[in-house]
Amino acid sequence: MENYLLEMKNISKIYGNGIIANDNVSFNLKKGEIHALVGENGAGKSTLMKILFGMEPPSSGEIILKGEPVRFSSSKEAISRGIGMVHQHFMLVDSFSVAQNIILGMEPKKRGFVNETEAVRFTREISKKYNLEVEAEAITRTLPVGVKQKIEILKALARGAQILILDEPTAVLTPQETNQLFDELINLKKQGHTIVFISHKIPEIKKISDRITVMRAGRFVSCAQTEEVTEQEISNMIMGCEMDTSIDRMPAKVKEVKITVDQVSYTDKNKVSVLKNLSFSVHGGIVFGIAGVQGNGQVELVDLLTRKRSLQEGEISLNGASVRKLSVPDIRKMQFGYVPEDRMNQGIAAQESIEENMISNRYETKEFCRGGLLDYKKITRFATENIAEYEIRCAGSTGNMGTLSGGNMQKVVVARECSHEPEVLLAEQPTRGVDVGAAHIIHKKIMELRDNGCAVLLISADLSEVLKLSDVIAVMYEGEFVAFFEHTEDLNEEKLGLYMLGLERHSEEQIGRAAL
Ligand SMILES: Nc1ncnc2c1ncn2[C@@H]1O[C@H](COP(=O)(O)OP(=O)(O)OP(=O)(O)O)[C@@H](O)[C@H]1O
Ligand SMILES: [Mg+2]
Repeated sequence: MENYLLEMKNISKIYGNGIIANDNVSFNLKKGEIHALVGENGAGKSTLMKILFGMEPPSSGEIILKGEPVRFSSSKEAISRGIGMVHQHFMLVDSFSVAQNIILGMEPKKRGFVNETEAVRFTREISKKYNLEVEAEAITRTLPVGVKQKIEILKALARGAQILILDEPTAVLTPQETNQLFDELINLKKQGHTIVFISHKIPEIKKISDRITVMRAGRFVSCAQTEEVTEQEISNMIMGCEMDTSIDRMPAKVKEVKITVDQVSYTDKNKVSVLKNLSFSVHGGIVFGIAGVQGNGQVELVDLLTRKRSLQEGEISLNGASVRKLSVPDIRKMQFGYVPEDRMNQGIAAQESIEENMISNRYETKEFCRGGLLDYKKITRFATENIAEYEIRCAGSTGNMGTLSGGNMQKVVVARECSHEPEVLLAEQPTRGVDVGAAHIIHKKIMELRDNGCAVLLISADLSEVLKLSDVIAVMYEGEFVAFFEHTEDLNEEKLGLYMLGLERHSEEQIGRAAL
């Protein structure tokens, strides 16, 4: 018989709302392996791991750790037995320093954390030990997601995690950050740690894991040795069938200009010039893709377009009107759809119902009002249609948004922003955290909007997505466009990569064509 480090046997979990998130699931870990846990949105991956981490009690089933039955009634107990988890949505205190976050909740007496100096010293020590570089004194809010994630991993390791659960660690990372994370994981594996890796990205799963467990609709489907399966086979196991995710691309019917960005420069509060003389226009009927490594000015550009920041230099107009004169509700009324990068902070209200979240961008338009009151019948009908169209897995439209799985939350945001026939769609990482099937639904929707004349500005770190959807592609590097491709047929990821890393550059004349 195999000697497993951990076995989860016949685990079932029924949530209070009656959803069966796990149905008789079995899962095991061998010491020192990287084990990928995969499956569609809502398949029950996070739930299974929350059970292992003591955050949710199983309805039935047993957990055997090193041959001994265990039952955790809190995360604290799981931690004390060497289990650590980094969640799909980070749980750091943004206003704290890195060191403060790392020691947060650790028993002060045990390690003698009396002051910040000691916390910083400890942080540096473990950062060195695990070869995960972080700046102990930096304020967490100011750090890129890749670094926040390292803090979360260090937090778990500092508490003695031998089994480390990473719930979609790469969903928010750039390709470069992902490669770095993989080096770090291999290093941890060498030190004897066991890792559970949840992801929707099949090439990554193939690259990093030793074994793969597949779940579907709350059930265990199969467990395979990674080297014995191809990427296509992994995809088939996840979807339960062979899936064609190609997009029929009709010739673009270019319409009038919807977004104009004219010589926009922006200097942030640290006096860093984050946007440099950016000019481009987005026409109706096309997808304008912006490719680039995150942190090259994309966030600032989106903030200017959505009025979260005020213009300093240059001009931006939407439908011919300067954004300087537009309020956020004005922009909404212009049939402007916006899928934000950070769904947890900007996209949703977790305490509200799915219905409320589906219409929260349309209170201003009175579309769902009758006699000054909300027309709940209409809202329910609208929400139910969207739930069907986007295949959102939930118990019903009145359920709490917070009870949805990560990918299903993303689908609600996309449904809300795309379902009112927007004339302009600003889509930032629109398929982050969604499974292959849902990504395909979202891609088809974006193309449908384009075919109906919508101007789509797509900002994505996922190059295969940019290449698949875009009619034209600009590459952003250090706050400016360094390339503009008017045709995308002969382009590939490698070629784009050269521009994204600043190794090659188009002529000024060619880049200027982005503004035509
Ligand atoms: N706290 C909760 N209360 C009620 N239902 C929940 C809760 N958390 C999750 N669920 C439901 O349990 C099911 C499984 O969710 P889970 O988060 O485990 O999926 P997942 O496999 O992690 O999906 P994703 O890839 O989208 O993150 C979903 O139908 C979800 O709506
Ligand atoms: Mg999940």
